[in-house]
Amino acid sequence: MHISAFGVRGDEVPYFQAWAARTENQVDLYGDYLNVDTCQLAADADAVTCFQTVPYPAELFKKLPVPYLALRNAGFENVDLAAAREHHVRVSYVPAYSPSAIAEFAIMSMLALLRQNGPVQTALHDHDYRLAKTFMGRELGACTVGVIGTGHIGQAVIKILNGFGARVLITDAHLPKDPSLAYTPVPLPQLLAQSDIITLHIPGDPSNHHLLNDEAFRLMKPGALIINTARPNVLDTKALLHHLRSGKLGGVAIDTFEHEADDLLQLAEDHDFNDPLWEELLSMPNVLLSPHIAYYTDVAVRNMVEQALDSLVAFDAGQPVATELT
Ligand code: NAD
Ligand code: COI
Repeated sequence: MHISAFGVRGDEVPYFQAWAARTENQVDLYGDYLNVDTCQLAADADAVTCFQTVPYPAELFKKLPVPYLALRNAGFENVDLAAAREHHVRVSYVPAYSPSAIAEFAIMSMLALLRQNGPVQTALHDHDYRLAKTFMGRELGACTVGVIGTGHIGQAVIKILNGFGARVLITDAHLPKDPSLAYTPVPLPQLLAQSDIITLHIPGDPSNHHLLNDEAFRLMKPGALIINTARPNVLDTKALLHHLRSGKLGGVAIDTFEHEADDLLQLAEDHDFNDPLWEELLSMPNVLLSPHIAYYTDVAVRNMVEQALDSLVAFDAGQPVATELT
C-alpha cells in the first residue's frame, strides 16, 4: 500500500520508518498539513494520514485524491465528517493511543500542586533555602479526588489513585465496567462539595461548555485543586481567576487553556497565546500551565502512528475498522 503522511514531526519519523519496513508498505512523509493545495502530493497514493488541530474543511474532501484518511489523534472536532461522507472518504481516528499518558500527567499535576512545587521552585531561584511554612504539603493518599468523566482516561486516573489510597468520587452517566476499580459514584454537586482535588476527563462538546463555572467554584471546598487536561471550553477561566485571586481555590493545573491556539503545533511561531488571562495565570505560583502536551509521550506517539497506519491497511483490505468515524 502507498500512504502519504502529512503533518509529520521529526519525533514521529522513526515510528513511520519502522512500521513501513515491518509491513512492507510505502509511506511518503510530509511536514505540511493536509489542505486543498497539499493534498495533490497524495495523487499517486492509496490513502493519507494526518496530525493537525487546524480544520479539515469540506473543500478538502472534495479535492482529496484518495478514499481513506487516518487521523493520528483522538479529537476530531476539526473534521467536517458530513463532507467526508458526501465525498466518499472514510475517516478513522485513534481514540485510546495511551490513556495512561494523560492520566499520569494529571496525577503529576496533582502531586506538584499538593507539594507546593511552584512556591518551592520560586524560592530556590531566589537562592532562598529557608523552610517556609507554606511549603508544607498534603498527601494524595489522604485526599478525596473527584473524577469527572470516567471513559478511557478517567479510568486510568482512578487506577493510579487507587494505588495511592485516595478516596475517589466519580460523576459519569456511564459507570466503568472494570471491577478492579474502587470509587463512589455521586451527583456532580456532591463531588464538587466533597473533593480536595477535581480532575476533568470529559469531551468538549457544547453541553460541557463551562461545566466548571462560578456556581461550581462556589460549591467547592476552600483550598480545592482543579486539573484540566480535557478540553479548553470545559472550564470558565475568568471565573476561575476570580476564585484563585480570592484564595478560595488552592491551585489549578491547565493543559488545555480556554483560548489555546487553533494551530497548536505552530504555537512557537506565534511566540505566545497573547492572552491576558494566560499572562495572569503564568504569574501565579499555585498555577501549573502546559501547552496541551499531556498526551506527548514516546508510547503515545508510537501508538498514534502505528494505529493510524494499521487502520488504513484495514480499510484497504476491506476489513472492519473499529475506529472509523461515521
Ligand atoms: P472518553 O470518550 O473515553 O470518555 C469521556 C467520558 O466522559 C465518557 O464516559 C462520558 O460519558 C463522560 N462525560 C461526558 N460528559 C460528561 C459530564 N458532563 N459529566 C460527567 N461525565 C461526562 O474520552 P477520553 O479518551 O477519556 O478523553 C477525555 C478527554 O481528554 C477528552 O476531552 C479528550 O479530548 C481529552 N484528551 C486530552 C489530551 C491532552 O493531551 N490533553 C489527549 C487526549 C484526549
Ligand atoms: C487529542 O488526541 O485529542 C489531543 O488532545 C492531542 C492533541 C495534540 C491533538
